[in-house]
Amino acid sequence: MTAPAGDVLVLFGITGDLAKKMIIPALYQLVRRGELTVPVLGVARSDWDDDQLRAHIADCVRAAVDQEVDEAALERLQRSTHLVSGDYADPAVFTKLADAITAEAGPSAFAVHYLAVPPSLFGTVADGLAGVGLHTRSRLVVEKPFGRDLASARALQALLAKHYPEDRIFRVDHFLGKEPVEDLLVLRFANTLLEPLWSRQWIDRFEITMAEDFDVADRGSFYDAVGTVRDVVQNHLLQVMAYLLMDAPLSDAADDQRDAKFRLLRSVRRLDPADVVRGRYDGYLETPGVAPDSTTETFVAATFRVDDWRWAGVPVHVRAGKALPDTLLDLVAVLRPPPRALFAGGLGAMRPDRIRLRVQPRAGIAITLLAKQPGQGDVPTEIPLTVDFREVLGPVHAPYERIFADALAGDPAHFARMDTIEQAWRIVEPILDPATPPARYGRGTWGPEAAERLPGPEGWVPLPPTAPSTSSATPSPGAAPEGALAR
Ligand code: BG6
Repeated sequence: MTAPAGDVLVLFGITGDLAKKMIIPALYQLVRRGELTVPVLGVARSDWDDDQLRAHIADCVRAAVDQEVDEAALERLQRSTHLVSGDYADPAVFTKLADAITAEAGPSAFAVHYLAVPPSLFGTVADGLAGVGLHTRSRLVVEKPFGRDLASARALQALLAKHYPEDRIFRVDHFLGKEPVEDLLVLRFANTLLEPLWSRQWIDRFEITMAEDFDVADRGSFYDAVGTVRDVVQNHLLQVMAYLLMDAPLSDAADDQRDAKFRLLRSVRRLDPADVVRGRYDGYLETPGVAPDSTTETFVAATFRVDDWRWAGVPVHVRAGKALPDTLLDLVAVLRPPPRALFAGGLGAMRPDRIRLRVQPRAGIAITLLAKQPGQGDVPTEIPLTVDFREVLGPVHAPYERIFADALAGDPAHFARMDTIEQAWRIVEPILDPATPPARYGRGTWGPEAAERLPGPEGWVPLPPTAPSTSSATPSPGAAPEGALAR
């Protein structure tokens, strides 16, 4: 299902951190490629004139883009962007906005309202838009986090649903804008190679690792109220897990894909705290903005159990955290060993074959097989079959570029539907807000010791290291620049 295309983009929070680091640079790339041709209206409290706004846009673009800036594209973006200033709680700002939309795009323009503002303001903005009748010809695009738990997500949804139907609310999860995440569906369902293996019959377990080698840096007060489970597991990693495990959608249509994801998530059991290890890196409590008696985790490892026909009995081990040894997102399928160990020497007796999908930083696939070591006897040794997607497919667009292009075009496929968000909260709810502090771990290690053995006595499949990382903490919801921005 495709909704109407936007005639004008309205950006609430245009002077904020997310707009500065992610959104404005993404809009510049879209303008440069001719994919953003509609006017942009920023809404913010700052009472800037056009010159100040244009200088801000130029600063954001120059700071984020590492290639030579296309001055003509930058100027097009500057010329097509205007500011509507005022307080979101003041109805007058919405009257001014309605007038500006009419002036820029005509009286019946369909607007795309992008809310890069704290969720506590979502209801105020939706009410304001409805107060001047703008809700009948627009859609809302809202940033994560969507709620703090199931009840608050439903309460937030109720505020938006007063004025907007589900098909006009697009909830951003920037991992759904990452090419390699979307590619999971193509790899799985455009080939016959993987799918026959993709079930409990051949797969022993999955391991998903989202590691970041940087700490929470200057985001202490944001992070301390959130923690790893809310920050990246409830949203990003459960969405990725759904793509990895779901059945084939009926078609490529957005709602068929989202139906398949919902069905998978509905089959995932609520987490059992006995299957979870929470950790906190040494020194976290000294971070500005962190409460001295904080119980927030900066690392979590958990085993998810999927009660459906395909995956019953196949554990999905997930770990995520800050201040770990590397920055990467890897999905590993560990295959069952062959029925008999014919080649008992070398690795033949112990190492099953594996399929590893690296989502970032360098997306690719690596299949580890056992082959005969040259020389006497049938001694198996590991050989990797590896493809680096950038080498064969070329550079990709950054997640925020794809999110804006889809939001404007009205394609909801890469936004989270409310039913999947509810399922995700249901799954993680038993481990939210524990009363006891997490176990400690040293910076640059893979979390507390207990996490190492979560998948079993042999531990996690070793991950090949990435190239030296240049990552750093991203601003509130956002993606580290990758793709066209970074290459
Ligand atoms: C954000 C989280 O949503 O995602 C951050 O708030 C995290 O804590 C970031 O670092 C990771 O995104 P990416 O795209 O940089 O891997």
